[in-house]
Amino acid sequence: MKFLVTAGPTREAIDPVRFLSNRSSGKMGYALAAAALEAGHEVALISGPVCIAPPPGADLTRVTTADEMAHAVQTRINTGCDVFIMCAAVADFKPREVRAAKIKKSEGLARIDLVPTRDILATVALPRDRRVLIVGFAAESESLAENARAKLRAKRCDLLCANDITRMDTGFDADHNELTLFFRDGSQRHLPRATKAELARLIVEICIAIAEKR
Ligand code: PMT
Repeated sequence: MKFLVTAGPTREAIDPVRFLSNRSSGKMGYALAAAALEAGHEVALISGPVCIAPPPGADLTRVTTADEMAHAVQTRINTGCDVFIMCAAVADFKPREVRAAKIKKSEGLARIDLVPTRDILATVALPRDRRVLIVGFAAESESLAENARAKLRAKRCDLLCANDITRMDTGFDADHNELTLFFRDGSQRHLPRATKAELARLIVEICIAIAEKR
């Protein structure tokens, strides 16, 4: 099968040296890419700026901004994929304008006007001739189940993997994670705290099982 996995953060420029971003390290997405490769599948990995090495064998595309990630995802989807896992922590907002010159401290910066980025998962155009299994992630700091179910529906996912991001030992920039999986049929499954590599193997197995049944 062909997997498409996104990983890491995006960066949204304020001026030539400053940007808005988040703490995503890319570890969860890279672990998913590694697990799919280990299971013998083809993997295209689209990654925001991270400091870790990509798994050998992944077809890597590096991007910086949400717009670049959206373009790279659409291009990959168009060339064909069976399982699309959107694990990247895409910035939800970007500055309305990017200043061409570095903003001087003496000039001051009282506010930055932000506009929403495109929601890649919710808006990517899916091929008519091929069913793609869509897997989203949800980073939640409250009402995890309620918010995750709403995202599953709004973002057309078959499976949504939700993590509680208020903890320091799981989620963003940790070696471990703990996830609750919400399925399109209304069922759910808790995956207790484990390394991201262990969880990634389970998620890949689950994706393959669903994709093969369809
Ligand atoms: O990278 P690590 O340090 O290993 O951390 C892993 C992780 C915490 C980043 C990962 O497990 C995770 O939760 N990824 C999703 C983070 C996120 O952006 O969640 P969200 O609830 O804001 O978004 C929901 C879904 O919409 C996600 O699949 C996201 O990729 C997608 N999205 C969000 C915004 C946007 N503009 N486009 C999108 O496609």
